[in-house]
This record gives sequence, structure tokens and C-alpha cells, in this order.
Amino acid sequence: MNESFLDLAYLVAAALFILGIKGLTRPRTAVRGNMLSASGMLLAVVVTLLDKNVLSYEWIIGGIALGGILGAILATRIQMTAIPQMVALLNGFGGGASLAVAVANYFQGGFNTETGIITLIAIGTTVLIGAVTLTGSMVAFGKLQEIISGQSIGFPGMKLVNAVLLATAIYAIVMVIINPTDASWVYVLIATASILGLFLVLPIGGADMPVVIALLNSYSGIAAASAGFIMGNTVLIVTGSLVGASGIILTRIMCVAMNRSLFNVLFGVMAEGGETIDADEVYEGKVKSTSPDEVAMMLETARRVVIIPGYGMAMAQAQHAVREMANAIEEMGANVEYAIHPVAGRMPGHMNVLLAEAEVPYDKLVEMDRINPTFDQTDIAIVIGANDVTNPMAREDKGSPIYGMPILNVDKAKTVIVVKRSLSPGFAGLPNPLFAMDNTLMLFGDGKQAVVEITQALKEAR
Ligand code: TAP
Repeated sequence: MNESFLDLAYLVAAALFILGIKGLTRPRTAVRGNMLSASGMLLAVVVTLLDKNVLSYEWIIGGIALGGILGAILATRIQMTAIPQMVALLNGFGGGASLAVAVANYFQGGFNTETGIITLIAIGTTVLIGAVTLTGSMVAFGKLQEIISGQSIGFPGMKLVNAVLLATAIYAIVMVIINPTDASWVYVLIATASILGLFLVLPIGGADMPVVIALLNSYSGIAAASAGFIMGNTVLIVTGSLVGASGIILTRIMCVAMNRSLFNVLFGVMAEGGETIDADEVYEGKVKSTSPDEVAMMLETARRVVIIPGYGMAMAQAQHAVREMANAIEEMGANVEYAIHPVAGRMPGHMNVLLAEAEVPYDKLVEMDRINPTFDQTDIAIVIGANDVTNPMAREDKGSPIYGMPILNVDKAKTVIVVKRSLSPGFAGLPNPLFAMDNTLMLFGDGKQAVVEITQALKEAR
């Protein structure tokens, strides 16, 4: 194939990937973004196959058919709550594919002294990162699927063992470069990197798993970019770099939103206990409860209402009921928006996905940084099953383990209604002073039931 045509096609594919990623940053344009990236990938695959003068397409077509069918079945059957483990599997397969490319290349062509140093370095790096991603992702999948315990699993001296494994893997890469004809170092590298992947993820607690999955996603991209150097394929280098960079950006966003440093996530260090906070002291004599009828009466005169969904909304599967309540409030003349915290729920985008399923218009979902300045002009904030992401201690109490975690400033609204079943803490296990504030009323009950009752009361009032 003409070299310039190939470069041009790869350039178009790379542009489609970048436009696709841009589209994925907004729910409204996400589907289009996905299609753009997918067409970029199709273009890259077709052009690469044509360029390689493939003699027989049987295996390739067989692979596409098998992978396509399995992927379609998995994607349609998967429960929304199981998406994190599916992403873990896909990351693992990505790392595994790069590993296979590197090993195949080594045994096919790299197995001689003529191979260039760059290719050998790329083979070593791809095997290392690909194997770590493959086995690490399988552990992440096992933990999230509850095939293995979600608790930290380890043994004394594990960090030292990991350091030795990493040193051995790097030594094996050096040996592959110095003496490419000795295949035994490739086996040593595969074995040490695979064990390292297992040992790196086993000690990480289940709660930190979404961050680790974002990180493994980044690793799978770096492995692919490195495989691109082995094959001299520009578009693979570009795609891999995009995945690597976006994975690391997502990792950072999640760490900041969960108030965890990447170091603490990777080394299983839990947040300092801080002062012990006594729930009775926070709540005693200060919590006021309300009823659906009373909430409906307040909503009748409200002009601006903000709904704050959290993990409890997902647990109660209340998203459709919430949408109906929002419609009823809007019919009363108020403006309704949804405040979305980056780590509300248990996976990135959890709330967006649930509310999109209930067909809440995308422009009603407002991210934390944009909605926070508007809480003091909000008549009623309705918190549905959210807890930690609204806890003012994160903003005010320097001794608190969640101090520094960015939160939704719900407490600034004129009236706050909190829908949850009890005063039980959320994921962080801390009491929430929001529930005891003067402007807060608790509506105790299951999220869906409570919201349905508010909607009924609103309809009866019309
Ligand atoms: P949480 O702080 O976990 O609080 C959820 C609340 O929902 C609980 O206090 C619970 O109170 C209530 N609830 C449970 N079932 C309910 C039901 N059926 N009806 C009504 N309420 C129900 O949730 P959040 O505010 O969304 O915060 C998320 C937390 O998870 C953060 O600490 C975050 O760091 C962490 N985390 C997030 C992620 C991602 S990526 N999103 C990943 C791992 C960890 P009751 O029992 O009293 O009802």
C-alpha cells in the first residue's frame, strides 16, 4: 500500500479517536463519541490488514466473529452493577493481547542478534506491562465478582517480594536486550511479571478497586503503545498513548474525589482514624424527621429544587421514581436539577448511568463544580440515598478521615430533605452532621417508597 495513503488513513483514525474521546466527556454526545472512536478503529484495522498483504483471512475473520459474538452477548447481558468487573476483564484482555503480540514477535523475528535495540526494549516493556495488566486485572475481576475475598490479601514481607520480582523482571529485560538469542530470559520475564501483577492487586481492598481498575486501564494502554513500537505501527502507538493518558487522568480524578492518594491505594494504606466521632454526640436531640405530605407541601412553593442521588438510590432502584417526582415538581412550576458527585455510588458514572436509564435529560445532570455555587439559591435540596458525598465534615473538620474530600455543598440550601432508611453511616463509616442541621429534615424510609409517596402527595395537591 502507498505509504502516504497509509499515513493519511492512520491520521484520520487518530483524529477520530480524539474526537470520540471528546464526545465521551458529555452524556449527550457520548454515544456519538463512541461511534466515532469505533469507526476510527475499524479504519485502522482495515488499512493495517490491507497493508500487511495478508495471505489468508480465515483466522482473522474467525477471530473477529468469535470475539464479536462473545462481546455482544456479554455487553447485552451484563447487569449495570457488574460493569466494573467487565471493564476489569476487558483491561486484562487488552494487556494479554499486547503480551501475546510481544511474545509472538520475539519468537518470530526478534529471536536473533540483528534485532534493533528499540524493538528489544519494546518487547521487554510490553511483556512486563502486558503480563502485570493481565494477571492484575484478573484479580480485580475476581474480587469484584466475589470469586475471591474483597479484603486485602497478603503476607508479611509482600512488598519486599514485589520489589525483588520487579528487579528480576527488569534484569530479565536487560538480559533479553544483551542476549536476544537466549529465550529463557523471556520466560523469566513472563513468570515474574505475571506473579507481580497478582501480588500488586491482591492486597488492595475492594473499596479501592475502581481506582485500581482505572489504573490497570492506563497500563493496558501503555502496553498497547509499547506493542506499537514493536510492530512500527503508528496508530497503535497513538491509541495506546490515548488510553494510557486517559486512564491515568481518571485514576487521579477518582483519587481526589475519594480523598485517597494513589500511594495509599496501591499500598493498601487506609485513612487515618482521626478523632473518634460519636454518632450520638452529632445527632442527639438535633435530628428532625418529616413525612412525604409535608415534603410535598414545601415543594409546592419551591422555585429551585436540586436532587442529590447517591448509593442508596441505586440500592433502592429508585431512579424511575425519582424522575417521576422531578416531573411532578416541575409541573408545580419549579426548576429541577440533579447534582452529580464524581464518586457518588460505587463506580465512576454510576449516577449518570442510572438517571440516563430513567431518561432524565442530560442537561439536568450538573457536575459538582458547577452546581456547588448554586446551592445557596436553592429552595429545597432532596438527598436520595447519598451520605458521604454531602458530609460537611469533609470541608470543615480537619480531624476527620474524610477531611479534604470535595463534597456537594448541600447544607447551603435553604431546606434539605434527606431520604434514607436510618441514621446509619455511608461507605466511609462516619456520622454526617448534615442530618442534624437546623435546615435539614429527615424522611426515613426506603428511597423508592419515599419518593413514590412524595409524588403521590404532589399529585393529590394539584
Ligand atoms: P454512601 O456514603 O455510601 O451512603 C449511602 C447511603 O444510602 C447510606 O447511608 C444508606 O443509609 C443509604 N441507603 C442504602 N440503601 C438505601 C435504600 N434502599 N433507600 C434509601 N437509602 C438507602 O453513598 P454516597 O454518598 O453515594 O457516597 C459514595 C461513597 O462510596 C463515597 O464514600 C465514595 O468514596 C465511595 N466509593 C465510591 C466509588 C465510586 S467510583 N463511585 C467507588 C468505591 C467507593 P441507610 O442505611 O440509613 O438507608
